[in-house]
Amino acid sequence: MTHPNTLLTLSLAPLAALACTSSDFDEDFALGAAVAGFQVDMGCPTLAPEICEDRNSDWYAFVTSTVTQSRSGNFLSADPVSLSPGFYELYEADLDRMQAMGLTHFRFSIEWSRIFPSSTVGITEHAALLAIASQEGLNYYRALLGAMKARNIKPLVTLHHYTMPQWMHDAVGCNQDLNGCSPRGWLEPHMVAEIAKYAGFIARELGPEVDSWVTQNEPFAVLLPGYLQPSETRTNPPSTSLRFEEARTVLFAMIEAHAAMSDAIKANDSTDADGDGQAAEVGLVYNVTPIHPKDPERALDQRAARNIDHLFNGLFLDAILLGVLDDDLDGEGQPQARLQNKTDFLGVNYYTRAVLSGENDSLFPDFSPLATFDPLSLQQGAVYPEGMYEVLMKVHDEYPGVPMVVSENGVDVGLYPETDRFLVEHMQQMSRAMEDGAEVRGYYYWSLIDNYEWNHGLNMRFGMFEVDVQDPMKARTARPIVDVYQQIIEARGITSSLKAQFDLP
Ligand code: FCB
Repeated sequence: MTHPNTLLTLSLAPLAALACTSSDFDEDFALGAAVAGFQVDMGCPTLAPEICEDRNSDWYAFVTSTVTQSRSGNFLSADPVSLSPGFYELYEADLDRMQAMGLTHFRFSIEWSRIFPSSTVGITEHAALLAIASQEGLNYYRALLGAMKARNIKPLVTLHHYTMPQWMHDAVGCNQDLNGCSPRGWLEPHMVAEIAKYAGFIARELGPEVDSWVTQNEPFAVLLPGYLQPSETRTNPPSTSLRFEEARTVLFAMIEAHAAMSDAIKANDSTDADGDGQAAEVGLVYNVTPIHPKDPERALDQRAARNIDHLFNGLFLDAILLGVLDDDLDGEGQPQARLQNKTDFLGVNYYTRAVLSGENDSLFPDFSPLATFDPLSLQQGAVYPEGMYEVLMKVHDEYPGVPMVVSENGVDVGLYPETDRFLVEHMQQMSRAMEDGAEVRGYYYWSLIDNYEWNHGLNMRFGMFEVDVQDPMKARTARPIVDVYQQIIEARGITSSLKAQFDLP
């Protein structure tokens, strides 16, 4: 039997949809979805695994080696990569799904090791780089961009989404012995030059089809689980603990790399792909996180929230958005000319907030005097839509004039099955921030399809489309969020009927 209230909602829905939205996204607002190469490419139905799988990346080695799999502190699922959704082969059908929904923007990442499976050290001229680049890799990304263009879907291209080539990082060796391994990834003195070279090369080759570039995704998801505290929540090669000196080196290398990549992109992409007058806009994607004191009245908790907010959010954002570098991690930064004017927009990834209580002393004095929190008090992972408003307003207030896109936002269906509600509530909070002045230009849901969630493998599912990973054809099935997102896209806002459906104000 149908519940009377449901009937009422249904019968009023068409009228309410006409009365329509309180919070519109104008026609320039990007409505999209996001993926990352390593997470979606592999698992092709018919392509040979050695073509479908990029076996030259550090992450590939990290998740497939029995050495790293058997070390419990790496928290690896050991899921075969062949269970991935096979996007490398199935991208046309996935783009059709996006087009049918009305999505106009797609964020994906280029795998550095698909372009340069062998070392670029010592090679500087573009022609010489082109000679050693994988033509197969370049052709794939050209075909993907062409297929997007044919469907009027604009790209937001991430150049570094955690992975790098094995000639740059021996993930397995460094996991065993960080002092003795080689090459050491972000710890190598030549890392900044090599990643900037790769960025410039891609900008030259693919710039005619791309205007929006992201240098790096979530630098702290490399730093914290890579060098300070790998945990079940996330590991990242080399997955080492309490390596304070190395963590600082990596932090500053990533900041310098952003500036160098930005310069390289601007120097090499002078083609305006979409005719809007801009050839290359460079951003960085950061998981801006609201940090809340556990007891808002307790002075130590308030101080800890301020300190951790600086360490986790402000430190990196000040460096890339203001060119101000806090090089001893004490909360005081100095302007650095070489870091200024390198960022045109900020990609904000929003998932959750952190709640913590404070201690008198720093937990990691060798890292920073500001780590004055109790790690046992740390709570993360709750669904907290208001946090979307908080992070967008935070960037708006602290870095006025910096345009933003929400470059990722989503939830594991195992943790929170109502992903349609999640979408509406978070987009509503984004609209509220826009009404209050935040300059947000787009929203990308994470993720288009279920994918290989780093150390968790297939144990976490973020897709708008469910993927039957055991099916060799990797069939996709729309989850309810697809219909809801489509309604938002059609109305370019959150309709009254959607608000009624989800009991929102
Ligand atoms: C973000 C990552 C993305 C995905 C989501 C769930 O931290 O950028 O690749 O893992 O989390």
